[in-house]
Amino acid sequence: MSEIEDPKTSNGASNQVSDGTSGGITRRKFILGVIAGGAVVGAASYRFLAPSHAPLPMEASERLISLNVNGKTRRVDVMKQETLAWTLRYKLGLTGTKFGCDRAECGACTVLLDGVPHYSCSVLTHTVRNRKVTTIEGLAADDGTLHPVQKGIVDEQGFQCAFCMSGFTMAAVGYLQTNPNPTRAELAHGVSGNLCRCQDYKKILDALMRGAEYMRRA
Ligand code: FES
Ligand code: FES
Repeated sequence: MSEIEDPKTSNGASNQVSDGTSGGITRRKFILGVIAGGAVVGAASYRFLAPSHAPLPMEASERLISLNVNGKTRRVDVMKQETLAWTLRYKLGLTGTKFGCDRAECGACTVLLDGVPHYSCSVLTHTVRNRKVTTIEGLAADDGTLHPVQKGIVDEQGFQCAFCMSGFTMAAVGYLQTNPNPTRAELAHGVSGNLCRCQDYKKILDALMRGAEYMRRA
């Protein structure tokens, strides 16, 4: 019988693998251990690419969850302390959601949860299992027709580098659903949780006001 190290309990000692439940670990436990071990390696590699507070691993059997993202059900392997921004970008490939501060200050990561803007860097993925998540990738129609707010941004050329654009767009879409005909000051207040490092606020507001106008017409 071969000896295989259990990655969850490894401290230099090793455990025997057997078909039964006594005298060693079961095949099922062994496979779960391998999955968990793989996740530890995966998380470790992410640490070189991302902010220092990378999520910690949890039991493999608890991690596979379903999310409703942009109208589709997505099965995803999620760690216990993983944020929604992390899941969207690094697990689901939805990189339109940006990491700016990663601490609820800049709004670059804004997405809609049941239509309401939230900082996805400050929401644990496990908490949104029964909610509808909308990202910038989910705004346009299936045939590629842009959302009215996106069209307003294109027509007004509202951003410089556009790093902050996804967050502003999602914040504006959420706000305009509650106040479709805002004054400029009201809309500015509505997206005041978002920051632009290029400080292009005048053009951003021009674009969002144009988007509000297009939304009313649509
Ligand atoms: S990245 Fe989430 S608020 Fe800045
Ligand atoms: S346009 Fe560059 S950060 Fe806003």
